[in-house]
Amino acid sequence: MNKTIALLVFPLLPFLLAACQSPGRPGENNSGACREPHRPQFHFSPPEKWMNDPNGMVFYDGEYHLFYQHYPDSNVWGPMHWGHAVSTDLVHWEHLPIALYPDSLGYIFSGSAVVDRNNTSGFGQDGKPPLVAIFTYHNMPAEKAGRKDFQYQGIAYSNDKGRGWTKYAGNPVVPNTGNIRDFRDPKVIWHEDSQQWIMVFAAYDHVKFWGSKDLKKWEHLSDFGKEWGSHGGVWECPDLFPLKVEERGETKWVLLLSINPGGPNGGSATQYFIGNFDGKSFTPDASFSPSVKGEKAVWLDYGRDNYAGVTWSDIPKEDGRRLFLGWMSNWDYAQAVPTEAWRSAMTLPRSLELRKTQAGYRLFSQPVRELASLRENTRALEPGDIQRQLDLTQKTGLSPAQMELILEFEPRPGAPADFGVELSNSKGERYRVGYNAATGRFYSDRTGAGQHAFSEKFGAAVHTAPRLSTGKTIRFHLCFDVASAELFADEGATVMTDIFFPTETFSMAKIYVDKGRVNLVRGEAWALKRIWD
Ligand code: FRU
Repeated sequence: MNKTIALLVFPLLPFLLAACQSPGRPGENNSGACREPHRPQFHFSPPEKWMNDPNGMVFYDGEYHLFYQHYPDSNVWGPMHWGHAVSTDLVHWEHLPIALYPDSLGYIFSGSAVVDRNNTSGFGQDGKPPLVAIFTYHNMPAEKAGRKDFQYQGIAYSNDKGRGWTKYAGNPVVPNTGNIRDFRDPKVIWHEDSQQWIMVFAAYDHVKFWGSKDLKKWEHLSDFGKEWGSHGGVWECPDLFPLKVEERGETKWVLLLSINPGGPNGGSATQYFIGNFDGKSFTPDASFSPSVKGEKAVWLDYGRDNYAGVTWSDIPKEDGRRLFLGWMSNWDYAQAVPTEAWRSAMTLPRSLELRKTQAGYRLFSQPVRELASLRENTRALEPGDIQRQLDLTQKTGLSPAQMELILEFEPRPGAPADFGVELSNSKGERYRVGYNAATGRFYSDRTGAGQHAFSEKFGAAVHTAPRLSTGKTIRFHLCFDVASAELFADEGATVMTDIFFPTETFSMAKIYVDKGRVNLVRGEAWALKRIWD
């Protein structure tokens, strides 16, 4: 490096390193960090290489931890590690070194982490509670040798805020009982009423509940699910938590369950159940059932790109939110998407609420309020009828590449309306997210949104979702981030998350009305700042 450049670059190094750290290396000029084509600008993505499920999400000492399934040597799936990042606001992330490496017991598959406040495990030091991670070991040689019991649960602990981890010498803590090939993804919670730790994990077509007093010795409590929900694929990544029902004095238990394939629009997706957990077994409410004829499950998100999501552990009581994050991809094509330096991102962190609707108890998802800290250039749209279209680029001057929109529509009496938001570029590629009153469904259409030849399963069909709300006003809350769209319709009653890969960044946005007549009763738009600077 010549001297002048060195003089300029060295004072900047701390800032450059705090950035996305990709593709440059320390000492190299990486001012282009995280600006590759298709790189999300306000979603979490790994600095480089392969990522899948979020893991070990726990809040401790002011930090939200995010671990993730990671293969540091390639941009496709391989021997799994736990990558690691922390955030103090759920929006900006600091990348940390890999937390868990494969060992002689196997690869480190998905799992969770807890703060062991009462040091039940005895792993604590100096009166401080340890962080304990609970994960699945996947023993590849055992699988290759034709055994079925190659997955089992192990634990590790940290006494330095999740920076350094020690695997427990007594692993595995839950051996593979019953010779079940799919025996994985433990989520652990403290169950106050029965004063014990509860582990829920997936076992092919059901979940298992195990209990423990110390996180080390576990006993089997019960099974759930063989006769419940959707079974179009293998069950994975469960989560179990209590949630207060909004505006009612009751609390219900929520069981999230990812399934692959078998999602409502194909491939990977997440279903859920609402019911009761008594410290031993989970019982769904008698009235809990899908609202749509022919559907077997109630889905958290109808888009194709929200999988293996679970919620943060140990969110302080004063906060009280149930915070969720999913992997923004789908096993149908995750390993083939057209990004090279890294592969895939997480969804926006979301706050989950439980409401009683006319269809029964339902989860509502909304982006966390912290996201608003990225807003700039607020633009209000004039209310009024929209005839055929409203040019959002011209009205707001904002780039649709990084944009948030809140739009409230009231269809006028007459022909059923078909309307929504379209992003496009000079190549004629376009993405549409809309609502069709004739079918009563929202839709997300990436069939013409750019590259899709990498997988025949990617751009084949328009994705649709039933509208749950019966309100007259149809509310779109949209977040667009370079290569993804998240629709939180009607305060999060219907959610769709989809990724796309235009060959040139989308530069134009409009509201379109293809059929019927629509009144825009409220419209707001924001540019969202990137998180890596
Ligand atoms: C879900 C999943 C998990 C497993 C992990 C492996 O996407 O298949 O069941 O633990 O990914 O990377």
